[in-house]
Amino acid sequence: MSGTQVRKSITFDPASKQTADTQWLQAFVGDEHVGKTIGQLRSRIENRLQFLLETEEYAPPNLLSAMSHALLGGGKRFRPLIFVMTVNRGDCLNASIDIGCALEMVHTASLILDDLPCMDDAELRRGKPTTHKAFGQATAILAAISLLTLGIRIISTVEGVSDHARARMAAVLSHAVGHTGLAAGQEIDLGGVSGTSLDVEQKNWLKTGKLFAAMADMASILSQRPVQQEAALTEFAFHVGSAFQALDDLMDAIAGTSVLGKDSGKDAERNTMVNEKGEAATRQSYIDHLHAANFALRHCGVEEEPIRFMLRSIHWLVPSEAQARAEMQPNINGGN
Ligand code: IPE
Ligand code: IPE
Ligand code: MG
Ligand code: MG
Ligand code: MG
Repeated sequence: MSGTQVRKSITFDPASKQTADTQWLQAFVGDEHVGKTIGQLRSRIENRLQFLLETEEYAPPNLLSAMSHALLGGGKRFRPLIFVMTVNRGDCLNASIDIGCALEMVHTASLILDDLPCMDDAELRRGKPTTHKAFGQATAILAAISLLTLGIRIISTVEGVSDHARARMAAVLSHAVGHTGLAAGQEIDLGGVSGTSLDVEQKNWLKTGKLFAAMADMASILSQRPVQQEAALTEFAFHVGSAFQALDDLMDAIAGTSVLGKDSGKDAERNTMVNEKGEAATRQSYIDHLHAANFALRHCGVEEEPIRFMLRSIHWLVPSEAQARAEMQPNINGGN
């Protein structure tokens, strides 16, 4: 199924944006109780990521170190957190945490590859040198392959889930990151496709959105929810994924490396939304998708507030125009 076909299956009615409550984004992000619950979940995910990297079989120490360098001690953990929150947790909390960790491994593998000199040629990721800067290109590529395959293996063997559900989840995830999903989006992004009819929204859907859609499908496989809730979750994922990449494109243009913890200004020559439609339209697209995600969330049959908290926390990363401009000014003392 192509990205275009997937997008056509989404039932979102743009008019519903008008009924979306626009106050929710203004709420104070630091709701203590929800914040604490998310903090605890984040700690469990961090610990589990570390545990899942350990192996009793021999693995070259340098390769393991490269995997740890990329995976541990950084990153928003947005995907595993959202994933666990969209599974009806009573069903299988431990399994959902392991599957969330697998999603983070697959995502991290995509970042290692994305940063390579032959792709975005980036030096900083998650506040640290990129994996190829720290370990060399060959080890970085092997670390990416290892994280990708480990992620799929974790899903294929996760405990407390039927064989059928495991197989379906592994198939959904591998489909989302392959040659008709994330890899396709990356190939288009890097200019490897001439004369494509896909617009920038569709490209963003392939390279980032499809993984979010896979997460929704996998949460539905685990939770076995009514079909209307499945559809709402798919719609939620579509809008979160679209908002996420629009925000990422915007931040590349307006925020500095110190805010992002990764190289900024890398997209100057790319057909990003900012370059195609401008900053204002990108900001608007991001906000529209965020509100639409919030609207769809009401029909997913999940506990809404922790997810809304996560969406707000992403939103508060966006600097105001004034902050962004100040950040981009060269420091007269010599720094960035
Ligand atoms: C960055 O993803 C790449 C995109 C798909 C936009 P994140 O913004 O989630 O990066 P981490 O995981 O927090 O480092
Ligand atoms: C990459 O997009 C998305 C992936 C699927 C890896 P970007 O190249 O914009 O991601 P960042 O900005 O480097 O994190
Ligand atoms: Mg890229
Ligand atoms: Mg990049
Ligand atoms: Mg980017």
